[in-house]
Amino acid sequence: MAADRSSLEMPVEKESSLIFFVNGKKVTEPSPDPECTLLTYLRQKLRLCGTKLGCGEGGCGACTVMLSRFDRATNSFKHLAVNACLMPVCAMHGCAVTTIEGIGSTRTRLHPVQERLAKAHGSQCGFCTPGIVMSMYALLRSMPLPSMKDLEIAFQGNLCRCTGYRPILEGYKTFTKEFSCGMGDKCCKLKSKENGNGCGADINVDDQLFERSKFLPFDPSQEPIFPPELHLNSQYDVDNLVFIGPRSIWYRPVDLVDLLKLKSEHPHGKIIVGNTEVGVEMKFKQFLYTVHINPIKVPELNEIRELKDSILFGSAVTLMDIEDYLRERIEKLPEQETRFFRCAVKMLHYFAGKQIRNVASLGGNIMTGSPISDMNPILTAACAQLKVCSLIDGQIQTREVQMGPGFFISYRKNIIAPHEVLVGIYFPKSMKDQYFVAFKQARRRDDDIAIVNTAINVTFEPHTNVIGNIYMAFGGMAPITVMTPKTSQIMLKQKWNRILVERVAESLCAELPLEPSAPGGMIAYRRSLVISLFYKAYLAISQELIKSGIMQFDDIPERELSGANTFHTPILKSAQLFEKVCSEQSICDPIGRPQVHASALKQATGEAIYCDDIPPQVNELYLALVLSTKAHANIISIDASEALRQQGVHAFFSSKDLSEHENAVGSFLHDEEVFAAGKVNCQGQVIGAIVADSQVLAQRAARLVHIKYEELSPVIITIEQAIEHKSYFDHYPQFIEKGNLEQAFSVSDHVYEGSCRMGGQEHFYLETNVCVATPRDSDEIELFCSTQNPSEIQRLAAHVLALPCHKVVCRAKRLGGGFGGKESRSLILALPVALACHRLRRPVRCMLDRDEDMMSTGTRHPSLFKYKLGFTKEGLITACDIECYANAGLSMDLSFSSLDRTMKHFENCYRIPNVKVGGWLCKTNLPSNTAFRGFGGPQGMFAAEHIIRDVAHIVGKDLVDVMKLNFYKTGDRTHYNQQLEYFPIERCLHECLDQSKFYEKRKEIQVFNGNNRWRKRGISLVPTKYGIAFGGMHLNQSGALVNIYLDGSVLLTHGGVEIGQGLHTKMIQCCARALNIPPELVHISETATDRVPNTSPTAASVGSDLNGMAVLNACEKLNHRLKPIKEANPQCTWKEWIKKAYFERISLSATGFYKIPDLGYHPITDPYARQYNYYTNGVGVSVVEIDCLTGDHQVLSTDIVMDIGSSLNPAIDIGQIEGAFMQGYGLFVLEELIYSPQGALYSRGPGMYKIPGFADIPGEFNVSLLTGAPNPRAVYSSKAVGEPPLFIGSAVFFAIKEAIAAARAERGLSSNFRLEAPAAAARIRMACEDEFTELIDQPPPHTFTPWNVVP
Ligand SMILES: Cc1cc2nc3c(=O)[nH]c(=O)nc-3n(C[C@H](O)[C@H](O)[C@H](O)COP(=O)(O)OP(=O)(O)OC[C@H]3O[C@@H](n4cnc5c(N)ncnc54)[C@H](O)[C@@H]3O)c2cc1C
Ligand code: FES
Ligand code: FES
Repeated sequence: MAADRSSLEMPVEKESSLIFFVNGKKVTEPSPDPECTLLTYLRQKLRLCGTKLGCGEGGCGACTVMLSRFDRATNSFKHLAVNACLMPVCAMHGCAVTTIEGIGSTRTRLHPVQERLAKAHGSQCGFCTPGIVMSMYALLRSMPLPSMKDLEIAFQGNLCRCTGYRPILEGYKTFTKEFSCGMGDKCCKLKSKENGNGCGADINVDDQLFERSKFLPFDPSQEPIFPPELHLNSQYDVDNLVFIGPRSIWYRPVDLVDLLKLKSEHPHGKIIVGNTEVGVEMKFKQFLYTVHINPIKVPELNEIRELKDSILFGSAVTLMDIEDYLRERIEKLPEQETRFFRCAVKMLHYFAGKQIRNVASLGGNIMTGSPISDMNPILTAACAQLKVCSLIDGQIQTREVQMGPGFFISYRKNIIAPHEVLVGIYFPKSMKDQYFVAFKQARRRDDDIAIVNTAINVTFEPHTNVIGNIYMAFGGMAPITVMTPKTSQIMLKQKWNRILVERVAESLCAELPLEPSAPGGMIAYRRSLVISLFYKAYLAISQELIKSGIMQFDDIPERELSGANTFHTPILKSAQLFEKVCSEQSICDPIGRPQVHASALKQATGEAIYCDDIPPQVNELYLALVLSTKAHANIISIDASEALRQQGVHAFFSSKDLSEHENAVGSFLHDEEVFAAGKVNCQGQVIGAIVADSQVLAQRAARLVHIKYEELSPVIITIEQAIEHKSYFDHYPQFIEKGNLEQAFSVSDHVYEGSCRMGGQEHFYLETNVCVATPRDSDEIELFCSTQNPSEIQRLAAHVLALPCHKVVCRAKRLGGGFGGKESRSLILALPVALACHRLRRPVRCMLDRDEDMMSTGTRHPSLFKYKLGFTKEGLITACDIECYANAGLSMDLSFSSLDRTMKHFENCYRIPNVKVGGWLCKTNLPSNTAFRGFGGPQGMFAAEHIIRDVAHIVGKDLVDVMKLNFYKTGDRTHYNQQLEYFPIERCLHECLDQSKFYEKRKEIQVFNGNNRWRKRGISLVPTKYGIAFGGMHLNQSGALVNIYLDGSVLLTHGGVEIGQGLHTKMIQCCARALNIPPELVHISETATDRVPNTSPTAASVGSDLNGMAVLNACEKLNHRLKPIKEANPQCTWKEWIKKAYFERISLSATGFYKIPDLGYHPITDPYARQYNYYTNGVGVSVVEIDCLTGDHQVLSTDIVMDIGSSLNPAIDIGQIEGAFMQGYGLFVLEELIYSPQGALYSRGPGMYKIPGFADIPGEFNVSLLTGAPNPRAVYSSKAVGEPPLFIGSAVFFAIKEAIAAARAERGLSSNFRLEAPAAAARIRMACEDEFTELIDQPPPHTFTPWNVVP
């Protein structure tokens, strides 16, 4: 319904048109919708689909575009990277928007930022790529020669799940000051290897993955100009605007009186500046605001004015502008006046990402009043003055209010009245004896909201350390930013010294309590952070006092001083070493060369088409899922009548629309339902689907489907609860046994029992699940689906629609990441979409929102291990009895196979002669947990690495020696009897020890730890052994189809899906070598079930092994057919041979097939047969530093040596290793799934679920491929690489554990302690027990209901 204009009297005469420019073209929109984002407008209205939707909440950067404005006040242009997903299109009036399509293309001219990212191998699945390119482009537009630090800041708001970031930074380093040496073209860094770049110490090893010398030059003067019409016509800035949408109205007043008038008429109208808060409320909390007021042209709200004692910032000034201005003033003003400014600048660096800071306002931050706001504690501690205005009787009333005690009155509420407007904020200049300090602790350092933050403002009596005045404010400890007046009172007139710290710590503990079930959880950690952050502040201010001679140098022990520091992202150093191809290899033979990903340029220009980029078809409908809000309940009734009454809504589907047989689906067992019938078993389970004219209508209607539940108990979320209730899948536990365990234990020198536990992991592919279904002739249907498993989707869709498979085609062009998450779980969306399409005979589309995807599609299995070990006094393991528990969720899915791999990898690289491995699959009220890169292997190996460390610890020997003692040797058999024909782990180990300077670093760490009380370092090494083959034998097969056309071009199709891993690139390389043609002649269009049937999922790392051999098989057939022609015409070219073959009526199309030979392990019928085709091995070493006071950490270095045979493509393989390492690091250290005790997923977006970002890369990151290690069992002697390196990410976990052990040693505590993965900040901090954590009393478990549980 349209907003009632008469009731919303406006200070303008007429409705306006929105005018802005996109990529240099003028866009006039007569009736823009205030609820529409720029992203929706670009993608749906302008069909500029290069800009991607990754999250819709400003957390991933996939939607980054450049916004340009002309600032008439300063007569300058501003070019800003912004998140199009949060930017209201109505705010674009008078602006110029540049999207990825606007800067270059493969058809015209590539822009250097596109080219360098692609050619440096910085694009894998490519879904993040346009956003990253645009962040870089916007940076270069405002700073043509940035520094690496500027790059770090520019990418704070961009995420990539594939690459591990290193290649992106390497590619873009070429634009920086650090790269350019002033020698221009003569710079030695630009010299190609052919010209002799000095690399050649070892002729077999190469270290150049890309050729910088061939990059297009960057010439800033060639960039498109700002549209002259916007530049010259000031009318765009001075018009009052009003846009009326279907449900809301948008005002843009241009003076304060008009703004205040609007606010007095519509006290609950929303002022919108950056929309970074309101946009999230509208999208994810479904808040409807009927009046939007955009004040960005009101001068008073945009001014920056320096006054005698302060700087006044208009409330709409962006955080970035504040930061820039403060930096400039810090340079110019006396140090003592700028202490508050420095504190603010430091905090702003960690405030969101750059895209957010470019648009978000300080006023918005204050007025939102979030308890974890970053600026509010600072401003509160500073008692900053605010200028607040309102219109009373036509007159402007101004009042000043003070942030400080009493400003915030309750959750997100303050004393500013609804009819008032916050106009400005005064940033105080500090005084000589006044000090400010602020700290923020978050899950991830960059672009994350605080867990706890604090600001302290202390004034000393002149020339003393006696406290004259002190204000302390804390965020994250209550529903509002809180102050601690009681503690401040205690501190008055006291000396700033260690005695005071103790009193303050106790007082803070009492003054800032938290209920055991308080929202946010981590109760003990948050409480201890309050004290720790205060202690950091104490150290930081003490250092200032020492500097000014007020405190003595020895007042603070030197070992303590570094406790004041925080981490800073180091500038990346890296090296990648791989084997050179031999000099006889033909120049156009691509095998073994670092070829660029076949789609990289298309991805970097936004031309690559992903599923949701397919243009809408005439008559197309949109589907929205109706998801369960209960974890375990009977469905009493489903009432869709209200939803169906909405205009534009066409249908509602539920289990009633399918027979019981059709409704029963699943990847292996059909033990789940398309639509829950009768009962739900997890939150996020699909109950029904609404189909409507548009996404907005479908999603709104889906919320109007009323479901009555009868809740059931128990609700089982965690493994421990499953054990308590014996909630396991049928046929579990299962066991693998070898040797004589009892006998081995009885003769062991040591018998030890231990356990370890790790959490699950969300796939967080940047492209969420999407499916577009089209009805074809009569009863045929075609599905475009973001799946790793098109054949399974075809099969299941045929089952649900009661069609034979030959009527269903499933296609997948490319996926924006999969990582196992789209192997089986795509069915959740694809089947309802197929059903709706088939029944309504209309095209139907759905792309899940990020929160829907995360709530419903399952994760890696959280796992628990309990083990009993027998070993000799030398540390040789002789026996292991281990229980493996995996949290599988509500259905079987692939869990049996994943657990099987866990059980077959629990020993990692260590030979254990007597073994009993038990596996329990826990049935819980969670979405079905599923495949995730490594597929159970990393979970098993995590247990192995605990086992080997326990043994080394107990026998008191060096860990590396104990590892070596226990390593398998070539010829040994595993506990499932597979013989290791070639086992190069010792070689990898020695190369990695050398490369990482392991022993040298270990000594340095000892010294460092001795010198630092609150900073500790740790180093750790992990080996890995990963079995290559699908667990299900039948899956180890593949097919290919090679068509040669008359012009000599080759269209290749194979059974694998391009999910970013570079599979198509490698297959093109294989085909090119096999046919002896240049790779440019080979193209892969898509994966489709009507081209290659009955394919296996693209998973288990065997994509290249399986499909590569099938491609060779097809090519061999063609070569055989072409042989007579070639022999008869040796002088002819490829094209001529093909023509001749055609005229001789030789078939130029061939299928290929391959099955991995000799596989067939079965525990009873064939226990000595191969389970795996071969193993991929590697070793990694990581060094970390932790902050014992906060639990923060920094990975200082990582070195990896991998044996991947003869690499088909070292660039792609190194990219896989780095990406897998970062994902493993996320799994073991950063990424936490947060569930309520009732099974609701809290971490359902990038806001709360933190995958590693750019700043998390190890400071030094070196990867080497083992040379001279060809693998006889796979295509062109290569090895599978996708999954094996992931486990090496655990090196960081174990290095953190070493560092914690060093901290515990300070207190005489045991180094044998339990640390669960992920080793998140809270766990690190709480494991570093000290005098501060001792102050925190913890209620006994089971005496309260916690806010969250660990699944
Ligand atoms: C991805 C992401 C990351 C974030 N990270 C952080 C972070 O690290 N730290 C942090 O503190 N916050 C963070 N935020 C929250 C948010 O960005 C900030 O609160 C920001 O400052 C809000 O500014 P805005 O201009 O976008 O506000 P808007 O969304 O435009 O408005 C927010 C609220 O303030 C009101 N308002 C705005 N201006 C005025 C005014 N002049 N007078 C009266 N009312 C007004 C609005 O009506 C609205 O209620 C993050 C948000 C996102 C989406
Ligand atoms: S889609 Fe906009 S930031 Fe993720
Ligand atoms: S390439 Fe970055 S998310 Fe895939």
